Amino acid sequence: MDERTGKILKCAACILTALYFGAAVLAVAGMAVLRSDRLQAPEQPIDFPHTVHVGQLGLACTYCHIHVEDSPEAGVPPLEICMGCHRSVAVDRPEVRKLIRSYEQKKPVEWIKVHDLPDFIYFSHKRHVRAEVDCSACHGDVAKMDRIKRVRPLRMGWCIGCHRALGASTDCATCHL
Ligand code: HEC
Ligand code: HEC
Ligand code: HEC
Ligand code: HEC
Ligand code: HEC
Repeated sequence: MDERTGKILKCAACILTALYFGAAVLAVAGMAVLRSDRLQAPEQPIDFPHTVHVGQLGLACTYCHIHVEDSPEAGVPPLEICMGCHRSVAVDRPEVRKLIRSYEQKKPVEWIKVHDLPDFIYFSHKRHVRAEVDCSACHGDVAKMDRIKRVRPLRMGWCIGCHRALGASTDCATCHL
């Protein structure tokens, strides 16, 4: 191997190594972005559009999230509520057929939680609704979301920031069980 071929080979090896590491860095970064994206707006077992039900039909949140005013949990709606309309509405659509099938087989839909605080935290919807904190302050404008996504960090600093601003309690025991 003469000197020139040696140099070319070394150069090629160097470029390949650079490409290899470059690709690895991009792949890792890409996966991190994808993962955080999926965490914030996970694909649901039924592609339920708030855009249609809230944005177009104008249904109140409490039409479906029936416990949000009187319980700590807002909860996801039981399928009976959906069937009130979907016994006859849009029954030919694949996503609605999934819903009807689950209902008929008495299999609850396994919705993936978008907002999920650690278990050592106490949070109450009722208290916030009574204090007239709007759903959108914490969940954004769901009427415009094809798929629900998390728009707030749900970190302690965020909770306390608002509690300070609105004069709510910032005692540790308020939120820490
Ligand atoms: C027709 C019924 C219906 C109405 C009306 C409705 N929702 Fe929902 N909502 C659902 C269903 C079903 C889910 C679970 C699937 C999903 O996340 O998209 C859900 C999920 C959510 C979630 C995510 C829960 C989680 O996993 O963290 C939020 C936040 C939410 N709704 C807020 C609202 C708000 C705010 C309104 C009123 C502006 C509203 N919804 C009106 C049916 C409804
Ligand atoms: C008050 C009546 C009503 C209720 C209650 C209701 N829906 Fe709907 N839903 C509709 C109407 C109307 C449409 C739009 C149909 C169209 O595009 O023509 C729709 C559309 C949908 C679609 C989209 C269909 C598609 O692919 O275009 C899905 C999925 C759906 N509903 C699921 C649900 C689920 C799940 C619930 C219960 C949490 C629910 N709906 C409760 C009336 C209702
Ligand atoms: C002060 C902030 C805040 C407000 C206001 C608020 N939420 Fe939530 N919401 C949260 C947090 C935080 C969670 C996660 C709770 C958990 O993991 O225990 C959540 C969870 C949910 C869930 C998932 C089911 C559950 O109960 O965990 C739904 C549905 C929901 N909210 C709907 C609503 C609706 C509808 C309103 C308005 C009537 C509303 N939220 C107002 C912060 C808020
Ligand atoms: C947008 C403003 C806002 C945000 C964000 C917020 N809160 Fe609150 N919170 C309030 C207000 C206002 C009250 C009502 C105080 C009252 O009832 O006098 C309250 C009350 C509470 C209470 C009941 C307090 C009591 O005295 O019993 C708890 C528990 C609570 N919040 C937990 C949380 C947690 C946990 C978070 C974050 C995940 C959070 N809050 C985020 C505004 C907020
Ligand atoms: C308004 C609600 C609220 C109040 C008041 C509050 N916290 Fe928190 N805290 C949270 C939430 C929500 C988390 C979980 C999310 C996070 O880690 O940011 C948390 C997390 C923490 C963690 C991290 C725990 C872990 O394992 O990750 C510590 C430590 C903590 N809080 C200490 C305190 C102390 C000390 C006080 C009183 C000075 C306090 N908190 C008051 C809401 C609150």
